[in-house]
Amino acid sequence: MVAEQQQPAKLRLAIFYGGKSGEHEVSLRTAAAVIGALDFDKYDIYPVFISKQGAFRLGSPLQSAQVGVEQLQFSESGGDLLQTLFEQSGETFDVVFPLLHGTYGEDGTLQGLLEMANVPYVGTGVLASAVGMDKVMMKKVFAEAGLPQCKFIHFTKSQWLQMPDQILAQAEQLLSYPNFIKPANSGSSVGISKAKDRDQLQAAIELALLFDRKVLIEEAIDGREVEVAVLGHNQIDASVVGEIVPSNEFYDYKAKYLDGKSEMVIPAVLSGETSELLRKLAVKAFEAIDGSGLSRVDFFVERTTGEIYLNEINTMPGFTPFSMYPLLWKETGKPYGQLLDELISLALLRHEERQALKFSLE
Ligand SMILES: Nc1ncnc2c1ncn2[C@@H]1O[C@H](COP(=O)(O)OP(=O)(O)O)[C@@H](O)[C@H]1O
Ligand SMILES: [Mg+2]
Repeated sequence: MVAEQQQPAKLRLAIFYGGKSGEHEVSLRTAAAVIGALDFDKYDIYPVFISKQGAFRLGSPLQSAQVGVEQLQFSESGGDLLQTLFEQSGETFDVVFPLLHGTYGEDGTLQGLLEMANVPYVGTGVLASAVGMDKVMMKKVFAEAGLPQCKFIHFTKSQWLQMPDQILAQAEQLLSYPNFIKPANSGSSVGISKAKDRDQLQAAIELALLFDRKVLIEEAIDGREVEVAVLGHNQIDASVVGEIVPSNEFYDYKAKYLDGKSEMVIPAVLSGETSELLRKLAVKAFEAIDGSGLSRVDFFVERTTGEIYLNEINTMPGFTPFSMYPLLWKETGKPYGQLLDELISLALLRHEERQALKFSLE
């Protein structure tokens, strides 16, 4: 390799944050932390604030790593992002880091926009993002890959309206009580309930249907909640295993965000054999959805039997320096700044691979 004489050009990196989902504020704090840990000698950093109404606001390149969340929320539009993205002649970005969770951030819609604009971006592509967001689709894909999961049923709002008694009977027969009721597209435990009898089950279904037209019911696993971080493209690495000890009966919204009493144990206290198996299953789950970049894969380890059940994959996990995903990598030997650099390199690698594909036979 020839040694570079010149200083390589800085990458123009856009950070997307805010957004229409319930995790708008978390996303702002994550953006401030990510910006604080990025190397300003390597990157020109463009903030892109997405308002709660969904407006994209492009700011001027940042001059300093020290930004507060107040500075990251601009009311005046510095430019129309869509125009900027699709402009052929004007300035565009070399890579985008979407720090958005949930609907319109993690579900493939933003990823589709970035594909159309032909801009490399950090994280999973359109299909993997969408599959990871929809708990029913996700479970079907995992089942096909032979991954261990708890029993579940699913139905739509119109099926519920047509045959509530059959659905309740089927849930009681197959899953018994307690069970978990979830909107198919959810996150942050929003709209999720644990039901211990028929009345609670009915109320939980009505609640879940406020958030999605598709609902699933799962058998409850009395298990420890353990999580693995995965990173890579084609070659996938898995981190050490971490454990969540929820402050509530289950890891609901309050236990996740409000009371500050849930604990993380990193690394989780498990046998070497169980940890190794969890790491293998995490990579398998990531490959099953055709993931790229990053994901956090969550499991239950049943208390009485030690049996492992895959719960879900999160294609854009919490990403503050105090979140499970970066902490798992830190414990595995990859500090936050290095993790950010690697994710950006993986985004470029994936894009290059796609660019090399032919679109026709010519
Ligand atoms: N089948 C289940 N058995 C036991 N606990 C569950 C089950 N499903 C969900 N939970 C509890 O509910 C929490 C949120 O459910 P999850 O499916 O992870 O939704 P989200 O995508 O909102 O994180 C889990 O972290 C766990 O505490
Ligand atoms: Mg979860």
